Amino acid sequence: HEEKTKVKNIQVVEFGKYEIDTWYFSPYPEEYANAHKLYICEFCLKYMKKKKSIQRHKMTCELKHPPGDEIYQTRGDLASHADDPSTSSQTRAAAGRLKPHNISVFEVDGKKSKTYCQNLCLLAKLFLDHKTLYYDVEAFLFYILTEFDEFGHHLVGYFSKEKCSAEDYNLACILTLPPYQRKGYGRFLISFAYELSKKENKIGTPERPLSDLGQVSFRSYWTRVLLEILRDHRGNLSIKDLSSMTAVRNDDIISTLQSLNLIKYWKGQHIISVSAKIIDEHLKNVGTQPHYTIDPTKLRWIPHS
Ligand code: COA
Ligand code: NA
Repeated sequence: HEEKTKVKNIQVVEFGKYEIDTWYFSPYPEEYANAHKLYICEFCLKYMKKKKSIQRHKMTCELKHPPGDEIYQTRGDLASHADDPSTSSQTRAAAGRLKPHNISVFEVDGKKSKTYCQNLCLLAKLFLDHKTLYYDVEAFLFYILTEFDEFGHHLVGYFSKEKCSAEDYNLACILTLPPYQRKGYGRFLISFAYELSKKENKIGTPERPLSDLGQVSFRSYWTRVLLEILRDHRGNLSIKDLSSMTAVRNDDIISTLQSLNLIKYWKGQHIISVSAKIIDEHLKNVGTQPHYTIDPTKLRWIPHS
């Protein structure tokens, strides 16, 4: 019985201007679950089985952005490592070719916008292997990343976050929709989660288990953040220092530095052991893609409690 429920049901979703092939099973209500294709409104996330229904819906749907507060907005300033002297001219050229987008982040409350958040979770499950929440959204906030233009705010991805986490989780679930993947948006969402933690004066960590793609993305984020600090900082830094500068949890720092072979365990203590040369070597290996950076001064948000 359990086996049966895991078989991928919906194969394709039409979403805004995209047709997206799904990856996994998602528990849409029974009458939708056997549809080959679902039509999903890119603004309110309502799902439909018929093209006619979505066409009709589009004429009446009034939503042009996620139903919450816009807490971050930036216009076409795709930052890159172009300012960074260590970046190659190749990367700088690549940055110049990328079209910068206007992007926003909205905070949506699972309690106030229950249907929207449930629809979002159902959509996300199509790309998530492991079990996640779909219907019990009330205890979560959803941070929705959009690209906006004259037609509205187009959903790029999101992460969810428990309103109250006893385990210091600053992110429960993260998704970049496939047409937007591998452009640096996952990294943007991860750094956004840590910016919120910094504002809360808290240390954060993602909820486990992480998917393979989640693991790769977090590891890449931690690696780059830590290497950049170690490169720019003069004098010794402890794990604790790194943690308070980044809001990254101690053991995530330790495992990242261990994977880079930059830490020794000596007389019961972790000692960071690096040289400028080794850091530069490692920095060459981490992604040199141009990416969206977050300007914390543009974050219009205060912690909830
Ligand atoms: N293969 C190898 N590396 C990958 C990758 C892939 N398919 N996708 C992302 N990465 C790496 C990138 O190279 C980048 O590292 P770099 O900066 O060192 O180059 C890093 O991961 C982040 O890439 P980015 O483009 O910012 O991420 P994304 O927008 O593609 O989003 C996820 C990453 C995890 C959000 C996205 O893959 C996703 O939504 N997956 C499905 C849902 C999921 O598994 N979520 C995690 C649940 S815990
Ligand atoms: Na990237």
